Amino acid sequence: MMKKNNVIFASLLMAAALCGCDDGSVPRKEYVITHSGLTAKLTGHITGADSWPEYYQLVLAGFGESEYAVTQVLVSPDADGNVTLTLTDIGSDVQTVELCVTNRLRRRVVTYRSLDVASAVGDTLYLDMGQVDADMYTAIQDHIFNSTCAQCHGLSTSAAAGLYLSEGHSYASLVNQPATSVEGTRVIPGNADESVLHKVINPGNELNLGFSHEGMITSSTDLRLIDEWINAGAKN
Ligand code: HEC
Repeated sequence: MMKKNNVIFASLLMAAALCGCDDGSVPRKEYVITHSGLTAKLTGHITGADSWPEYYQLVLAGFGESEYAVTQVLVSPDADGNVTLTLTDIGSDVQTVELCVTNRLRRRVVTYRSLDVASAVGDTLYLDMGQVDADMYTAIQDHIFNSTCAQCHGLSTSAAAGLYLSEGHSYASLVNQPATSVEGTRVIPGNADESVLHKVINPGNELNLGFSHEGMITSSTDLRLIDEWINAGAKN
């Protein structure tokens, strides 16, 4: 690798020198080697990758300015959960390399680790993940319930409507449990549309809830994440 780079560098120097003879005005920076050709190496022990329905993929991906991956490669741990993976030819438009879940449009849904390409050692970016719980329900708990819901639903002593959305309690409080403040079941596995959880957090519902939840979750990616989880069987 080093050797190849040296050869390229030498030829660039020569090219620069030759051009320099013809016309001293050729800007020097044209010959600066950018990040294109950067390689990212992922190692780690990842569980839960297979808990995601087919609309999603656990990937190692490169992102530029937008929420959509410029490049990505599927992460599929072996039977023991071990992963060794390389993402090659990362272009200069990539700013971060992430272990994340993207949807079918390659839009970022959940990120487990993000590294700036500037932190590359030579031409390699190392993502040593250690242990990662990439389970879908864990992502919903960490990403949505903990930050947006648990403060009213069970984090302190009381839980609004008797619904616990705090860590370790949410699943038992949601799945196949009757709602207390409206008619219906909180989460009906396989049927998001009829689940009270879905109705409460989506706009335009006809529930007569005493406290409006509209606008609490504004990200369509997050709203869809909950629907996909319910429709895939609401597994833990
Ligand atoms: C500011 C406090 C607050 C926050 C934050 C909050 N809720 Fe609520 N939630 C309530 C109250 C109060 C009720 C009961 C309303 C009533 O009795 O009519 C309720 C009821 C519900 C119900 C109906 C439960 C049942 O059994 O009737 C669901 C489902 C629900 N919330 C989900 C959520 C989710 C998901 C979030 C996070 C996105 C969230 N809530 C955030 C206060 C809150």
